[in-house]
Amino acid sequence: MKKIGIIFGGKSTEHEVSQMSAASVLRAIDKKKFTPVTIGITKTGEWKLFEGDYDKIENGEWEKSAKPFRPSDLKNVCEFAFPVLHGLNGEDGTIQGLFEMLDIPYAGCGVAGSASTMDKGIARDIFRCAGLPMCKHVAFISADFNDDPDGIMDRIERELGYPCFVKPSNMGSSVGISKAHDRAELKKGLEEAIRIDRRIVVEEAVDAREVEIAVIGNDYPETAAIGEILPSDEFYTYHSKYFDNGETKLVIPADITDEQRAEIQRIAKIAYKACDCSGLSRVDFFIDRKTGKVLLNEINTIPGFTAFSMFSLLWAEAGVPYPELIERIVNYGYERYNAKAERFANWF
Ligand SMILES: Nc1ncnc2c1ncn2[C@@H]1O[C@H](COP(=O)(O)OP(=O)(O)O)[C@@H](O)[C@H]1O
Ligand SMILES: [Mg+2]
Repeated sequence: MKKIGIIFGGKSTEHEVSQMSAASVLRAIDKKKFTPVTIGITKTGEWKLFEGDYDKIENGEWEKSAKPFRPSDLKNVCEFAFPVLHGLNGEDGTIQGLFEMLDIPYAGCGVAGSASTMDKGIARDIFRCAGLPMCKHVAFISADFNDDPDGIMDRIERELGYPCFVKPSNMGSSVGISKAHDRAELKKGLEEAIRIDRRIVVEEAVDAREVEIAVIGNDYPETAAIGEILPSDEFYTYHSKYFDNGETKLVIPADITDEQRAEIQRIAKIAYKACDCSGLSRVDFFIDRKTGKVLLNEINTIPGFTAFSMFSLLWAEAGVPYPELIERIVNYGYERYNAKAERFANWF
C-alpha cells in the first residue's frame, strides 16, 4: 500500500479553498491502494502532521490537534507527495522545488511548469512565443509605475484603452484584480495591485464567455470536456468563486461550436507543453462574444479540486470518475519521477 502525503492549507490567500479540496481528495482516494497521510501548512507557514477527521480539515480545526512536523521528514512519513495547495507557496514551484531536493515523487507540474504559469506576465510571454491567441496586454514592475505613473497610464490608454483589467502577476482566485473604466479607476487599481505584487499585468477587457478545459498527462496530454462559467458578479471575482451560495453556474459541457472545441483542445495542449506542465492543469479561455474567437487566458496547475469543482466535473463528463482521476494523477507523478531518475542514472 502506497503512503501518499496529502499536503494542504498553505501560506496563501487560497488556504481555505485548499482545505476543501484536500478533504474531497481524502474522502475519494482509493483506500485499498493508498494510505493517505495528512500534512497541513498553517497560514503562517508552519508544517503539521494531522491524524483525524476529514471534516476538521475542511473547517480548519485540524490545526488545534496537529503535531509539529519538519518538511525535511516528509520521506519518513510518505513515499509520494500530493500537494493540494492553491496559489503562492504551493502552485508556484516553491514546494515543488522542495520535493525535488528531497527526491520524492509528487503529483502535478514541476518547478518550471508551476512557476511559469503562476506568473501571468511570464506565462503570456511563453504563450506569445508559441503563437497562441490572447488578449492585448501591457506588463511592468511596480518600480516602473512608481517612477513614472503617468507614463505607464498613458501607455495603457494608448495600447489598450478602457475598460481594462489590472492584475497582480502572481496571485490567484481574482485577488487584487480590478476592472478599470477610466483613468481614476486605473490609478486606484494599479496602486492596489502594486501593494500585492511587484509585477503587474494590465489587459484589454473583452466582452467574453469564460470556458475552461481540464488536462492531464505528461508527454501526451489528454483533454476532458469543456465547461463554461456563468459568474454571478460583473466578472469572476473572489466572491463569485467561493462565497455566492451557488449563484455562479457551471455549464458542462459548454454550448460551443465544434470548431471552437477543437481550437480550445489544440491551444490547451500546446500551452501545456510550452509551459512544461505535467500531471494536471486546468486551462482557461475567453470566447469573444462578438467575433467568436478563442483567446487563451491562463493555466492553473492546481485547480480547485473538490469533487464538485470544474476540473473534476469535466473529467467526470469525459468518463473518468473522481477516484480514478486521483489515481491517474498519482501515476503520472511516478511516471515523471521514474523517467527523470532513469535519465540521471545514465549520467552519473
Ligand atoms: N481581459 C479580460 N477580459 C474580461 N474579463 C477578464 C479579463 N481578465 C480577467 N477577467 C475576469 O477576471 C477573472 C479573473 O482573472 P484571471 O486572469 O483569470 O485571474 P485569476 O488567476 O485570479 O483567476 C476572470 O475569470 C474573468 O472573469
Ligand atoms: Mg482565472
